[in-house]
Amino acid sequence: MTEKDFLPNTYKKWPKEGKVSWKAPSNIALVKYWGKKPNQIPANPSISFTLDACATTTMVSFEEKAAIDSFSFELLFEEKPKPDFKPKIQTFLERIEAYLPFLKKYHFTIKTSNSFPHSSGIASSASGMAALALCFMEIEKQLTPQMMDDHFYTKASFLARLGSGSACRSIKGSLVEWGYHEPISSSSDLYGIEYPYEVHSVFQKYCDTILLVHKGQKQVSSTVGHQLMHGHPYADNRFQQAHANLDKLRPILANGDVEEFIKIVESEALTLHAMMMASMPYFILMKPDTLEIINKIWAYREATKVPVSFTLDAGANVHMLYPEAYKEKAIQFIKDELAQHCENGGYIHDQVGHGATKIKS
Ligand code: PMV
Repeated sequence: MTEKDFLPNTYKKWPKEGKVSWKAPSNIALVKYWGKKPNQIPANPSISFTLDACATTTMVSFEEKAAIDSFSFELLFEEKPKPDFKPKIQTFLERIEAYLPFLKKYHFTIKTSNSFPHSSGIASSASGMAALALCFMEIEKQLTPQMMDDHFYTKASFLARLGSGSACRSIKGSLVEWGYHEPISSSSDLYGIEYPYEVHSVFQKYCDTILLVHKGQKQVSSTVGHQLMHGHPYADNRFQQAHANLDKLRPILANGDVEEFIKIVESEALTLHAMMMASMPYFILMKPDTLEIINKIWAYREATKVPVSFTLDAGANVHMLYPEAYKEKAIQFIKDELAQHCENGGYIHDQVGHGATKIKS
């Protein structure tokens, strides 16, 4: 599919007003997306677990307005106006208007809330942009009642990508691949797809406990981080490595080889941060407690053979990953040894989920 496939046909109906609501989950990448081309096109393919507990719920009410020369919306985050989110939404609307030409016809009230605590250091852009894209698609569906489900979800992912790249992996579950990768014929730079190959049951219920090392704003945004991959001395090798890791994961995901899974996932996390440290200007998003936790995970795994592992996002928090069968042991380990490295002892248990859900209004 190309961008043109997401331009709508003529709308059949124009409701005067309405209300739609969707809940979209966060996701955690196993093979990381870091570096992009114009138009939110990823420099390399990535794959992620869709999460379950960490999610954003968004309700959009819309009413017809007289003037159609500009966007009109108000934004409530956790029941309160949130002016600092507005520029991001404005940019999002500008980027997607060509694909949703009804956007200037309505005034929108957007009410959004996260299941995870405010300023927990968990990025809400993936779940937030995915939930908003789904709400807009729900409105488009009212204008185009014959729309097929497949198109609905693919276009929602396509739109979410234009809000925040990794958001395109927050529509469906449980494993989502995004970015063109030759061996996966249905893969695309434009949207995420449900991973089309066999996935062993161990990975369908994998657990992710997010250890909240640092809840504040990170000092370098991912937008800036992606830009620093332009002219980066190791960029080309890194992009090739992501393709290779995706290939290596295929048999591992199919046969449930947790040991080999860990090698790729931990290497991906450290490579992501190595890219940050080797860019110009260079920066470090890990904190001393991030490293303490990583070392403790390695020591515990070595001593007990319990297959706990870690991955990192573009921040200091650690995602501890483990099979569901080891949940009790993992939780005990967290309480005994890791919680002390978290800000105010905070962590959030999550696990692989099945994608976004429509909320009945
Ligand atoms: O979606 P963005 O532009 O915030 O980039 C996210 C990049 C990482 O979270 C670091 C990796 C990934 O693939 O999710």
